[in-house]
Amino acid sequence: MRLLVTGGAGYIGSVVTGHLLDAGHRVTVVDDLSTGHADAVPAGAEFVRADLRGVGRLLAERPGFDGVLHFAARSLVAESVAHPERYWHANVVGTLSLLDALRAGAVPRLVFSSSAAVYGDPEEVPIAESAPTRPTNPYGASKLAVDLMIGSEARAHGLGAVSLRYFNVAGAVRCRGGWLGERHATETHLIPLALRAATGRGDPLPVYGRDYPTPDGTCVRDFVHVDDLARAHLLALGAAEPGEHRIFNLGNGAGFSVLDVVEAVRTVTGRPVPVTDAARRPGDPAVLVASAERIRDQIGWIPDRTGLDEMVADAWRFQTQWSR
Ligand code: UFG
Repeated sequence: MRLLVTGGAGYIGSVVTGHLLDAGHRVTVVDDLSTGHADAVPAGAEFVRADLRGVGRLLAERPGFDGVLHFAARSLVAESVAHPERYWHANVVGTLSLLDALRAGAVPRLVFSSSAAVYGDPEEVPIAESAPTRPTNPYGASKLAVDLMIGSEARAHGLGAVSLRYFNVAGAVRCRGGWLGERHATETHLIPLALRAATGRGDPLPVYGRDYPTPDGTCVRDFVHVDDLARAHLLALGAAEPGEHRIFNLGNGAGFSVLDVVEAVRTVTGRPVPVTDAARRPGDPAVLVASAERIRDQIGWIPDRTGLDEMVADAWRFQTQWSR
């Protein structure tokens, strides 16, 4: 297929682009490089520097795309609380103009990066797609708004769409001679920060809360390897049906605590991980674990890199390469 990937210079978008190229698709990456890196775009993909408002012109000039995979977004929960307008503009208004462009260009398929953040604090764990959607921050609300927009677009105009609701994405992959992984200017995620603390070059890792109702008192998350996550996107692309909006959770269905992650980082790096106790981070649910039944049963996604040590080891390989 001929595919457009928005945000293909970012962590997840670049890894999925690599998978698409390996599967024989022709890929054009559109990214404004606000948070992505041009050198992360895998060799073999065409790169166009533009934001989502530029996609309409691109599709008008070059008709014939079979689908869009839409990763471009702002994704920092704390920033979304402090500056919600950035999230409504970039994620909601940006995606609305992308949908306008798809409709005008008669692009039949869309795969969208949604988030577990749409569920907020869950009543039941594991979380199924039928769980109530009550986001606790503007980031999650913006992803939910886009899911709703896409649903109505599919019903009214025949778009075939799939939303993948990511849980905690981790790890890195070897792609076309290099490593692709998490490389954020503002890093807030647990695994990269714990690895940085282990090198002794970063600050000690703050553990945000030890008084949660969990076995060791720290938050529990469902980590999914970015390589498994990428494979789900190829399955989703094949599962898009005209006029339907399908929604799938994307997690492994297993929970690891913050202290489990610290232990995995210690094992993988062979170094101590300095930690400090810190207050709970606002908006953090105690436990986020996916029910991955629907994606397994309906499109046959079976993750095979589910070990926390493996995800941490790949992230470590990537991080040592980039900090050299
Ligand atoms: N944590 C720490 N110390 C840190 C960083 C994180 O203790 O320095 C803890 C957090 O409190 C949380 C867990 O580690 O309990 C995981 O935190 P991350 O920031 O790595 O990930 P989140 O679970 O907050 O967020 C992820 C995605 C978001 C998405 C969310 C869905 O990164 O984009 O899952 O709920 F919104």
